[in-house]
Amino acid sequence: TERTFIMVKPDGVQRGLVGEIIKRFETRGYKLVACKMLWPGEDLLKKHYAELADKPFFPKLITYMRSGPCVPMVWEGREAVKMGRMMLGATNPLQSNPGTIRGDFCIDVGRNICHGSDGVETAKREIDLWFQPNEITKYESHSKDWVYE
Ligand code: GTP
Ligand code: MG
Repeated sequence: TERTFIMVKPDGVQRGLVGEIIKRFETRGYKLVACKMLWPGEDLLKKHYAELADKPFFPKLITYMRSGPCVPMVWEGREAVKMGRMMLGATNPLQSNPGTIRGDFCIDVGRNICHGSDGVETAKREIDLWFQPNEITKYESHSKDWVYE
């Protein structure tokens, strides 16, 4: 099954949205296989957002992401990457549909409360970057047969 990397950003943590974001993935039927809290440093964030290094907003993005603890997670399930992006909503909350996480809880692209991998390969890279292999659990979900045919 597919895995995606979802992270509650510092504003999501400060605004008390960790539970809400986890709840949406849990109730949808996705399986949480890794989760922690950490205050990321500059090196880690620069690796995480390496593709955006040339963007004018990059310094602001790093400052934002360094402003407090984050909650990185790994979620597992069918089409987890694509559905994760859909559940987060568009990057700019002004374009995120109501019903999505960003569309329900934020307004500004520079404070968009959560991150989600944009592809299966990106997800693998991000999971390796943020988690040690022994931090990722392997277990069978009791509701598996009630979520999947
Ligand atoms: P992530 O899930 O965080 O990777 O967002 P994304 O994949 O929807 O967008 P992208 O990877 O292009 O940008 C990463 C993050 O940079 C966004 O989530 C925003 O927090 C921030 N960002 C993107 N575009 C802008 C912008 O135009 N201005 C500002 N201030 N921040 C931006
Ligand atoms: Mg991205």
